Amino acid sequence: MLRTPVCDVFGIEVPVVQGPLGGPWQQQMELPAAVSNAGGLGSVPTALRTAGQVRHDIARLRDLTDQPFAVNMTRRPFLDDVFEAILADPPPIFSLALGEPGGLVKRVHDAGSVFMQQVTTVEQAERAAEAGADVISAQGTEAGGFSGRISTMALVPQIVDAVSPLPVLASGGIADGRGLAAALALGAQGVSIGTRFLASEESGISPEWQASILAAASEDAVKVTFAAYAFQPATAGGYDTEPRALRTSFIDEWNSRPNEAEAAADLLRAQMRMAAASGVTHHLVPLAGQSAGLIHEVLPAAEIVRGMVADAEAALRRALS
Ligand SMILES: Cc1cc2nc3c(=O)[nH]c(=O)nc-3n(C[C@H](O)[C@H](O)[C@H](O)COP(=O)(O)O)c2cc1C
Repeated sequence: MLRTPVCDVFGIEVPVVQGPLGGPWQQQMELPAAVSNAGGLGSVPTALRTAGQVRHDIARLRDLTDQPFAVNMTRRPFLDDVFEAILADPPPIFSLALGEPGGLVKRVHDAGSVFMQQVTTVEQAERAAEAGADVISAQGTEAGGFSGRISTMALVPQIVDAVSPLPVLASGGIADGRGLAAALALGAQGVSIGTRFLASEESGISPEWQASILAAASEDAVKVTFAAYAFQPATAGGYDTEPRALRTSFIDEWNSRPNEAEAAADLLRAQMRMAAASGVTHHLVPLAGQSAGLIHEVLPAAEIVRGMVADAEAALRRALS
């Protein structure tokens, strides 16, 4: 079985992390539970959740698995009461994305949890390593959700060199065993994956959003260039990122009117709020990454984990034969 040192850091069997998939839709703990029970690392997103909801989600996940899992926060925005709620019942792993870790690392370590930091540039990785992060997730621009501008292929080996000997995960554009094999060849010790798990039986997103992922080509997963005027702004220490989503008429319209989006910010935010309230955010901005082009069926999350590991082992053997 494919195993790397980061598996020992997390206490897991195989180096496959399910990236948090936060947003204004039903958050199903069945997904992180299935990934953790399959030997990978499931993640609980907390974006747009209250402290009470987060406590409830974590308690539910603990009912579904006794395996390690991560609880995630971002700096879009960062809510102190949610952070306190997480640390009151510390998860095995705490992950932060979209902003600087700073003093959070010590708080997380004092609570006894492992600190994983997601970054989008080499400089961010160096600062996270200096701040004491235990694991760095290097996320390329291919990724679904908020991401930076550098490709996974160029970013990962640079970050591996910059933060050695810290373990690095490759993230962005990886959806199968060949991607996992490539990540290992780049010096990463595993992968952190989002879009592939959106198309899992346990993800809880709407069937039409899943169907659009199965139907999409990679070029349909575009950057939402007007996001600064449609999403909540990042709080202090936030990284400069933009979301990637499958094209919709909303995205096409405002991506083609770059000079008008700022003046229309109130309208754009109102449309996003209304879509969220009706549970149809994916009609406007169905977050997904370029790996959508690689995904052709909805599968149980455990099957995705196991298939990815078996296929990576086969791909590595093939490459050396
Ligand atoms: C719908 C969606 C929601 C996401 N929400 C979060 C989140 O709340 N926190 C976070 O750190 N990353 C979030 N991400 C990023 C993923 O965890 C993961 O890093 C990314 O999807 C990896 O790239 P991939 O989509 O190419 O696999 C999200 C991604 C998607 C597609």
